[in-house]
Amino acid sequence: SFSGPALKDMFADDFKIGAAVNPPTIRSQEQLLAYHFNSITAENEMKFESVHPQEEVYTFDQADGLAAFARKHGLAMRGHTLVWHNQTSDWLFTDGAGASVSKELLLARLKSHIDTVVGRYRGQIYAWDVVNEVIADEGPELLRPSKWLEIAGPEFIAKAFEYAHEADPQALLFYNDYNESHPQKRDKIYTLLKSLLDQGVLVHGVGLQAHWNLYDPALDDIRAAIEKYASLGLQLQLTELDMSLFRFDDKRTDLTSPPPELLELQAERYDGVFRLLREYRQVISSVTFWGAADDYTWLDNFPVRGRKNWPFLFDEQHRPKPAFERLAALSR
Ligand code: G3I
Repeated sequence: SFSGPALKDMFADDFKIGAAVNPPTIRSQEQLLAYHFNSITAENEMKFESVHPQEEVYTFDQADGLAAFARKHGLAMRGHTLVWHNQTSDWLFTDGAGASVSKELLLARLKSHIDTVVGRYRGQIYAWDVVNEVIADEGPELLRPSKWLEIAGPEFIAKAFEYAHEADPQALLFYNDYNESHPQKRDKIYTLLKSLLDQGVLVHGVGLQAHWNLYDPALDDIRAAIEKYASLGLQLQLTELDMSLFRFDDKRTDLTSPPPELLELQAERYDGVFRLLREYRQVISSVTFWGAADDYTWLDNFPVRGRKNWPFLFDEQHRPKPAFERLAALSR
């Protein structure tokens, strides 16, 4: 059982501290989630292929289960995600004969999907990641090549925001991306957001996924990204925070438990990040971790399948780690 300071109480009342969850973790981490967090995001269960595997078939059982868990514990909920190049059903882009659909049909299908999914959770999901990861990581291109872009051109982005607003006028609408603090990608994300706002598209916020590690990105780059996005008048949320013990390209597999010196470094990093969050509290409204405790993280299978990682504030037994203690000290 839990006692002591709760993560969610370390901030002003309306600041949301979230965790990504899935059907197994709402069982195995229920007490931890209820004690320390006040928001959740479905890790996979609201993605296109999860809820809409065939044109006439919606499968909401798992998503509904997570939404019920949020209601049971009084947790807010973020929606993730409506438009992505990944985990999206193939039928969406093809007709019955396997040929590519027209732009008009693709957008009509998108509207129908958004109406149904956003409409179902209207009043419960307060913020949606409407469009996820459409910026190209490398090269001069602004937008990532995808079926969306190929068939509909760049307009699919604005349309998704329009449809989402129609389906739930109260929901906050986010653009969400990773490598969001790397200077080149930051500038491209800024360019996209600025052009959407200039066209009059209703975008409320930008999600900084924040898949970070002990070494990258530098706090100064995170700060610069926060300032750049905030200059557009958008609200910011960290939407998928984790702090890997490994550099992005480090594929070593020899660690069987987290070395204490790395956990200290991790505490230092989290301390630096949360100091920034406090400094920019006016524009940053939430942080969601992409998991809750080290017993489960997608990083256990990325970039090396089966390599354990320990990216969170709580250990595999859900006990506070040095990083948690640093954050508790910060808020005293
Ligand atoms: O559902 C199958 C299961 O039936 C099968 O036995 C198993 C074997 O590998 O795979 C399962 O599917 C996996 C799925 O997660 C559900 O666990 C996929 O292989 C795996 O690729 C998938 O990974 C998810 C990933 O998105 C896919 O792109 C991660 O769980 C999820 O954490 C991750 O989340 C993304 C965000 O949505 C967007 N930002 C980046 C973030 C991390 O990649």
